[in-house]
Amino acid sequence: MKSITRLTLSLALFVLAGSIGAQEGPIKYRQGVMAAQGGHAGAIAQIAYGGVDHNEQLVAHIDALAALSGMIVSAFEENAFVMEDTPSSAKAVIWERWDEFQEKAGDLESAVSAFSVAVKGADADAFGGKLDGVWDACKGCHETFRKKKE
Ligand code: HEC
Repeated sequence: MKSITRLTLSLALFVLAGSIGAQEGPIKYRQGVMAAQGGHAGAIAQIAYGGVDHNEQLVAHIDALAALSGMIVSAFEENAFVMEDTPSSAKAVIWERWDEFQEKAGDLESAVSAFSVAVKGADADAFGGKLDGVWDACKGCHETFRKKKE
């Protein structure tokens, strides 16, 4: 009897461990996609606001941001629940209001594309304004769908 209980317990732990592994992947992945966006956006800001003189690398950062913004929807598609050992700032409302979340991701794609056109077309006047559009799109989603830092 005792051994059966032990067997049941270890089976339960095995199943739990398996599901933890499966949940950890999507959470870490979407955070990786976001952290990469943060990296490129931060680098773009340094170039655009004169922190560094690496104008020749601007287009590469924009192209990376464009590719990453196109990954948001699929990165969040799986509703991975939050676990203690894999903290996440994603709010549950993402999957309750999935259409709206997808729209916000689309807003960022459009903003990055408009910024890209302005930079590549050397439309210097439109440049700054279009970059503001990118920040607005990041903020527009975070405000609703990301937990505030404590
Ligand atoms: C469509 C919604 C959406 C858009 C657009 C968006 N984010 Fe996020 N972002 C999130 C959510 C949700 C999280 C929390 C993910 C988690 O912790 O599981 C997050 C997390 C982050 C993080 C923390 C990543 C980590 O290491 O845990 C950074 C940095 C970030 N976003 C930067 C950006 C930047 C920069 C932009 C714009 C270029 C942007 N995000 C656009 C939804 C969005």
